[in-house]
Amino acid sequence: MGFLRCLQLLLLFLSLRLQKLSAQSLPNASSSSSPLDALLQDYSFRAFVRPRTGILYEASTVPSNLTGIKLAAMRLRSGSFRRRGVTPFKEFSIPSGVIVKPYVTRLVLVYQNLANFSHLYYPLSGYDYVAPVLGLLAYDAKNLSAVNLPQLDLRVSNDPIRIDFSDLERIPQGSSAKCVRFDSKGEASFSESIQPGNTCETEHQGHFSVVVKSVASAPSPAPPGDRKEKKKKSSESNSKTWIIVGSVVGGLILLGLLLFLVLRCRNYKKQEKLREMERAGETGEALRMTQVGETRAPTATTTRTQPMLETEYAA
Ligand SMILES: *[C@@H]1O[C@H](CO)[C@@H](O)[C@H](O)[C@H]1NC(C)=O
Ligand SMILES: *[C@@H]1O[C@H](CO)[C@@H](O)[C@H](O)[C@H]1NC(C)=O
Ligand SMILES: *[C@@H]1O[C@H](CO)[C@@H](O)[C@H](O)[C@H]1NC(C)=O
Ligand SMILES: *[C@@H]1O[C@H](CO)[C@@H](O)[C@H](O)[C@H]1NC(C)=O
Repeated sequence: MGFLRCLQLLLLFLSLRLQKLSAQSLPNASSSSSPLDALLQDYSFRAFVRPRTGILYEASTVPSNLTGIKLAAMRLRSGSFRRRGVTPFKEFSIPSGVIVKPYVTRLVLVYQNLANFSHLYYPLSGYDYVAPVLGLLAYDAKNLSAVNLPQLDLRVSNDPIRIDFSDLERIPQGSSAKCVRFDSKGEASFSESIQPGNTCETEHQGHFSVVVKSVASAPSPAPPGDRKEKKKKSSESNSKTWIIVGSVVGGLILLGLLLFLVLRCRNYKKQEKLREMERAGETGEALRMTQVGETRAPTATTTRTQPMLETEYAA
C-alpha cells in the first residue's frame, strides 16, 4: 500500500540524516599542532645555527614564561633515519625501520621535556605524573626558519620506539605505574603497566609520560583550561543530542501528518460512496436529506403510519 511505502521512505530519510550527523562528529584525521607544539617547534628550530646532520642541538632559549621546559632538535636524512634509527635521542631509542609520512628528504626530530609544565598542558584528572611529559615530534627540514609546520607521522615497522623513564618520582605504595601517550589531539591512551626497567614503548610520535592513579580518589578539581575544554565538549555533544532529538520529533510530526492525510483520504472515499448511494436513491424514492453534523442523512417527508389516539377506539 502507498502508505507503507511512504513510511519506508520516511524512515530511510531519517536514518540517512542520523548517519550524516554521526559522520560529521568524527574527529578530523589530519594532525594539526597544538599552539604549544607550534611555539616549541619555532624555539627548537632556533637551536640550529649552520647545523650538521645527525647532531643533537639543545635549544638555549625558551619563551620566558615557559622557563624549565627543555628542547632539542636533530636534522636527519630520511633514508639514513629509516636504515639506522637514532639511539639514543635523549630518553628515546628510535630503532631502524621507522617510516616518516608524508615522505620528506630531510626531517627534524624535536625533543620536548615539559618538566613542571606537564600537568598544566596535559592535565589528567584521576592520575598523578611521576615523570615529566616528553615529546617526540617530527617536521620537514626543508625550511629551518618556517613556523606553524605540520607534524609528520612516524610509524614503526619492526621494533617499537622505547622511552627510558629511569628516574621516576617515588611511586606510592600499592599503586602501579602506567605509561601514557597523548596523540596530536591531546587524547590520552594508557598502557597496562610500565615495562621492566621503567621503559615505555610506542609505535608513533607524540607526548609520553608515566602516571599513577591519584591517591586521593576524589576527583581533583580540574585546572581552568581543562574545565573550559570539557564544558565546550559537553555543550557540543549537547547540541548534537538536540539535533538528533529534533530530527526524531520532526520525523514523528511528519509521520502524524501523513497518517492524518491517509485517514482524511479514506474519509473522503467513504463520503463519496455515500453520495453515490444518495444519487442512486434519488432515482427511486426521493428522500429528503438533512444535515446531521458533517454527514447528510435521509429523512422521510411524511410519517407513514398516521398516529391514532387511543381514545378514538374507546368512542
Ligand atoms: C580538517 O583539517 C584540515 C587541515 O587542518 C582543514 O583544512 C579542514 O577544514 C578540516 N576539516 C574539518 C571537517 O574540520
Ligand atoms: C608565553 O609567551 C608566548 C609568547 O612568547 C605566548 O604566545 C604564550 O601564549 C605564552 N604562554 C603562556 C602560558 O602565558
Ligand atoms: C616551573 O619551574 C620554573 C623554575 O624551574 C619556574 O620558573 C616556573 O614558574 C615553574 N612553572 C610552573 C607552572 O610551576
Ligand atoms: C622559510 O619560512 C620563512 C617563514 O615562514 C619564510 O619567510 C621564508 O621565505 C621561507 N624560505 C623558503 C626558502 O621557503
